[in-house]
Amino acid sequence: MTKDKLIEEALKMREKAYIPYSSFPVGAALLTKSGKLYTGCNIENAAYPVTCCAERVAIFKAISDGEREFTEMAVAADMKRPVPPCGSCRQVMSEFFDSEMVIHLTNNEKMVKTVTMEELLPFSFHQSDMEK
Ligand code: THU
Repeated sequence: MTKDKLIEEALKMREKAYIPYSSFPVGAALLTKSGKLYTGCNIENAAYPVTCCAERVAIFKAISDGEREFTEMAVAADMKRPVPPCGSCRQVMSEFFDSEMVIHLTNNEKMVKTVTMEELLPFSFHQSDMEK
């Protein structure tokens, strides 16, 4: 799948967002090493902190389906700049994405900022940090 198609999928997923509180739709598209696509949208809740971002929905769908290896992700939102993922999503991404994996951050004007996992969350805490 091409980068442009992945971005299209992320943009399309905004339509599925469950956003009665923020009216701020976000879409995500995640590609596995085996070539499968997993998408996600943000899902809000009356108890606001329970909300799950589009990125984590896509990742959790893939993980719960047995996938563990990923090559590329795209995230899209309606805003003036490419969407910056929240801190919780960055930490979840860093659990499953290699430091060199690329993430395309975009908006409804199709501005694209491509970053690596390491750029998105430098000096991050990993499983290996707990080794004695
Ligand atoms: N949101 C995402 O889904 N991903 C992001 O990268 C930024 C924020 C959602 C969470 C909430 O539903 C809404 O955007 C406003 O914070």
